[in-house]
Amino acid sequence: MELPFAEPYKIKMVEKIYKSTRDQREKWITDASYNLFNLKSEEVFIDLLTDSGTGAMSDKQWSEIMVGDESYAGASSYYKLKRAITEITGFGYFLPTHQGRAAENVLFSVLLREGDIVPGNAHFDTTKGHIEFRKAVAVDCTIKEASDPALINPFKGNVDTEMLEDVIRENPKSNIPCIVVTVTNNTSGGQPVSMANIKEVSRIAKKYGIKLILDSARFAENVYFIKTREDGYASKEIREIALEMFSYADAMTMSSKKDAIVNMGGFIGIREEDLFIKASGFNIIYEGYITYGGMSGRDMNALAQGLYEGTEFDYLESRINQVARLGSKMKEYGIPVLEPYGGHAIFIDAKKFLPQIPKEEFPAQTLAIEIYIDGGIRCAEIGALMADRDPVTRENRYPALELVRLAVPRRVYSDNQMDFVAAVVGNVFIRRKSISKGLKIKWEAPILRHFTVKLDRSDV
Ligand code: F0G
Repeated sequence: MELPFAEPYKIKMVEKIYKSTRDQREKWITDASYNLFNLKSEEVFIDLLTDSGTGAMSDKQWSEIMVGDESYAGASSYYKLKRAITEITGFGYFLPTHQGRAAENVLFSVLLREGDIVPGNAHFDTTKGHIEFRKAVAVDCTIKEASDPALINPFKGNVDTEMLEDVIRENPKSNIPCIVVTVTNNTSGGQPVSMANIKEVSRIAKKYGIKLILDSARFAENVYFIKTREDGYASKEIREIALEMFSYADAMTMSSKKDAIVNMGGFIGIREEDLFIKASGFNIIYEGYITYGGMSGRDMNALAQGLYEGTEFDYLESRINQVARLGSKMKEYGIPVLEPYGGHAIFIDAKKFLPQIPKEEFPAQTLAIEIYIDGGIRCAEIGALMADRDPVTRENRYPALELVRLAVPRRVYSDNQMDFVAAVVGNVFIRRKSISKGLKIKWEAPILRHFTVKLDRSDV
């Protein structure tokens, strides 16, 4: 008989989590102004808000913490991390940063000017935030198939290369300093980008003298999908494929809190010395000296170890299949989920789940609140709240997809807990027609509003 996959690790330490009552959760979420970010973690039973910084470090990573070198300059931890980054990504230069958005801040400080255009595939919200903060524009060139949640395409994160070339031709080249390709693509549902697509984007970038940046938070999961879905890669090693993928880029930004399985950290990988020197100046101002840039030595050690563990095939297989198992269970219950299943998360199509809630009343956020009230499960809205307002017109933006994301932390929850999650969402699905009111905004911040927004029931 064919053997199923099994986790290539065992559990050494456990952490208690708390179930609560429905009455308690109703009070807590009202007090939190219907914003799941405002909940205390003790008020959550299973936390699928994000897979970022929520992973379980290994015994080897914890032991690396004990031998960190905290020297201000030239720490051995810096060189250990440099070696790991070069081995896994091929980038010869790197700058540590405290997390992914800090890497974006430093790199965009060098590359972007007011009025610039940054094409890419559904930029993540902090990436877009850093672009728009500089009065530049992020142009989404994701393939149109990505906006159909039910359509099966193995690489739904791909860039529409014709659209990309049109954008480049229609604008002065001097206004397009870089293209950002996000692997896997979080915003369009944890969907991968194929090697062929990255190669083609790179060819176009080179043709017009534009830099290609990979937003690499979930690069290893992207590589796993290339290995298992793209012709010609099945027999190649994960790290071999990763090296090829990065070879097409000029730089990478990394949120190490995802695929490098650490709780905090990030970095920029850079090919050319000139860009490294320019970025170093901003790194020193914003993050810290270039050999620690926002990270302690022990954290750089744990990150180096995490990069190796996060690029092991057996680990990736169990991680991605745990997420897919959750997706299959939910599909069995009839829940409309985005397919193919994302690498790090399952996304529910909230427009299909709650067709009676108008887009102005935030169906995805409404659904996320109901899931919390029913089962103490915290997930995230990836819809109109997160899409924010147009920076120029200040009108609400309504993205094609209105999704609830159930992001699965790495090496943290059991399959029983995932079954519990699927059943809770299944119960909300059974009573879906009784959900008649959505939400309205009471207060919002001028940028990245979803983190701090205050909401109320729409009929209050
Ligand atoms: N790029 C992508 C694709 C991301 O998903 C994130 C973070 C970042 C950049 C920024 O990294 O958080 O370390 O500053 N995503 C988290 C999430 C927050 O929940 O998906 P960061």
